[in-house]
Amino acid sequence: MHLLHLSLTNYRAFTRLDMEVQHRIHLLVGGNAQGKTSILEAIYYLATFTSFQAQHDRELINYLTIDENLAVGRIVADIDRAGKQHRIEARLILEKNYNGNGRFRKEILLDGVKKGLQDILGVFNAVIFLPQMTRIIEDGPEERRRFLNLFISQALPGYGVNLAEYSRVVTQRNALLKQINERSSDVGQLDYWDELLVQRGAAIIQARIRAINELEQYSTRIHQELTHGNEVLRLEYQPSFDPLIQQGGQYHLPISRQTARLDLGLDEIKHGFFQQIRAARTEEIARGVTTLGPHRDEMRVLANGIDLGVYGSRGQIRTALLSLKLSEMNWLHGKSDQWPVLLLDEIMAEMDLQRRGDLLRHIADYEQVFLTTTDLEPFAREFMGGNIIWEVKDGFVRISDQAEL
Ligand SMILES: Nc1ncnc2c1ncn2[C@@H]1O[C@H](COP(=O)(O)OP(=O)(O)O)[C@@H](O)[C@H]1O
Ligand SMILES: [Mg+2]
Repeated sequence: MHLLHLSLTNYRAFTRLDMEVQHRIHLLVGGNAQGKTSILEAIYYLATFTSFQAQHDRELINYLTIDENLAVGRIVADIDRAGKQHRIEARLILEKNYNGNGRFRKEILLDGVKKGLQDILGVFNAVIFLPQMTRIIEDGPEERRRFLNLFISQALPGYGVNLAEYSRVVTQRNALLKQINERSSDVGQLDYWDELLVQRGAAIIQARIRAINELEQYSTRIHQELTHGNEVLRLEYQPSFDPLIQQGGQYHLPISRQTARLDLGLDEIKHGFFQQIRAARTEEIARGVTTLGPHRDEMRVLANGIDLGVYGSRGQIRTALLSLKLSEMNWLHGKSDQWPVLLLDEIMAEMDLQRRGDLLRHIADYEQVFLTTTDLEPFAREFMGGNIIWEVKDGFVRISDQAEL
């Protein structure tokens, strides 16, 4: 799939932006704080309907307009998916109520018709790669859960919906646990929330078991290639409780456990989850938080059996991240038979010649790629040939004279 046209209105620093983007490779060139990353963020928004970097989506609305009673930021793209054209539109709306407080909501439209997440996730896919994404490997489990959620929900819309519901259930359940602890609510009320937690949570766990396993198959192969056979990359899913342990109380070795989990049915996972939260009930009431479930999951990234998050060198981590990102492309392609759009934010400048060459070889297969850079120097001449170069300056964008290179 690829973008044909992108238009932004009152989005970040752009009052109005229109870009014809049918070409395969687009290079966005400009100094710092000119709006390059914002353009990639907008494109990625149409794949996930959440910003990969903002704390809250309201930050995406141009701040010069938010003093008005109604501020609307818009991201609209015409896309081509297997020869069919579609228009995707996201409207970010901030409305002042009677006491002057802003209320945020978003509307999503496909071909002019309002849609729920369930019906629009998966229409457009993108993979984004920024230098600071080494955090996925280096930082805490939250970064890895975010990584998982963002790519899995693009191929499995039900996953995105379950995640949103699950997170609502955890919040409500935590509030109830605190009330029970303070004796202002009855323990019996927990049953209802336990049921919802298990329902949504088990579906998330099952999707993660499968997606991580599939992603690993791509990343092991790609990482072998990138490290010339020196490193075996493994992705080890560590759910906050092991749904397998309940099966007769048997522990398995980690690798066979991972494979055995693939056979778990939804009901088995639910059963395991249910038993675990029942066993944890007293503790959960005492602490006032939901201690088990996919919001506490972990996924370790291992090279030759060593946890890269703990022991990885800078170079190892960068290569592993490149493997993960290329695997994400392949996984999404495997799910839809369409290449996602690849968004690379100042990636090339960070890479040594070897990794840059490896990345360029993969890019040759893809349908559309957007790259940002502060200077053109790191881009080999052969790579610039036939591609479109955009100058991004102060919220404006124009095709560079160097486009004929
Ligand atoms: N909601 C917003 N409204 C207006 N300007 C914004 C908003 N959010 C960010 N900006 C501005 O956009 C610029 C950052 O854009 P960014 O895409 O990160 O630039 P680049 O990637 O080219 O360095 C900054 O000048 C910042 O102040
Ligand atoms: Mg930037």
